[in-house]
Amino acid sequence: MMTPVILAGGAGTRLWPLSRHQRPKQFLSLLDDAPLLAATLARLEGLDHAPPIVICHEDHRFLAAEQLRRAGVADATLLLEPEGRGTAPAIALAALLVQRRDERHPLVVLPADHCILDRAAFQASLARALALAEQGWLTTLGVVPDRAETGYGYVRPGAPLSEGGRRVAAFVEKPDAATAEALLAEGECCWNSGLFVLRPDVYLDELARLEPAILDACRRAMTAASLDRDFLRPGAEAFLSSPDRSIDVAVMECTARAATVPLAAGWSDIGSWQALWEALPHDADGNALRGEVRCAASRNLLVHAEGQLVATLGVENLAIVTTADAVLVADRRRGQELRQLVDRLTVEG
Ligand code: GDD
Ligand code: MG
Repeated sequence: MMTPVILAGGAGTRLWPLSRHQRPKQFLSLLDDAPLLAATLARLEGLDHAPPIVICHEDHRFLAAEQLRRAGVADATLLLEPEGRGTAPAIALAALLVQRRDERHPLVVLPADHCILDRAAFQASLARALALAEQGWLTTLGVVPDRAETGYGYVRPGAPLSEGGRRVAAFVEKPDAATAEALLAEGECCWNSGLFVLRPDVYLDELARLEPAILDACRRAMTAASLDRDFLRPGAEAFLSSPDRSIDVAVMECTARAATVPLAAGWSDIGSWQALWEALPHDADGNALRGEVRCAASRNLLVHAEGQLVATLGVENLAIVTTADAVLVADRRRGQELRQLVDRLTVEG
């Protein structure tokens, strides 16, 4: 038994201009199938679980509710943040909510923006992680890396545990390029998939020790929470007083109670145009094309054309994305820098 906690509060800025504040990437169909949030819910099909908790920004409550309806999930709680404070407080709210309901089984924390090709393999890893979480381990599903990616967290496995799991000897969130290369060269380190299985009491204990201000803010926010149909709103003033931290930095890098189990299920985080290019099918020239696109002497492009024809000649390694009101032309491989560019656009209107 488990309680799914779906994190759907990210901004998805590295997929601008497709992902926008009004509709961030977790509400989009990036791979021509179900929108990412609905696909996340579908991945739990057949598993024995309590009603899911979906945590997202207040502004996206109807988008989230619509996807829950489409996925046939009628009993979810939508926890609405007035503004995100990162994944550590978001998961704390969920943990406090299940404690209030007197549920004791582990939380399965699912980012709403992943692609997982092999559902059976995913569910098998989840079952092993669940067994470790029940023993009190804060368990992450680890993915074998194929490059020195700086956009992910890294886990160095330590002593073996049951279920084919290992203790986490070290957790390094988003290392710089040199550190990522060194971790990859060690041969055993894996990427943190961002999928966590953990018991709410263990998580809250670690938060009390490592980041008491987050726990305090979230406790006060839940005391002041108001329920409106399926929408649960934590007290805004208390919640916004929480430090802004990810679970990776607040807890996973510091705790001695972390474990990891392998996930080999065709996982990817569709976090950037580069990642989307990798996940989509390519033509013989390595181009991943969506919409009406004609390419001549062009290689390794990602082109997303909306409402207009895009033609390219003699270019390589670009991401070209057109939407109704914006066009991006970028080096496909420099997607991690897009965040800063988009921040500037927002400031400048
Ligand atoms: N509710 C809520 N509130 N959700 C949030 C918030 C928040 O403040 N911030 C982020 N999220 C959601 C995002 O929508 C996403 O589904 C998930 O939490 C993870 O956040 P990202 O912002 O996408 O994190 P990341 O990709 O940079 O890094 C994390 O995931 C990597 C793997 O994809 C880390 O866990 C890395 O260690 C990991 O490798
Ligand atoms: Mg991500």
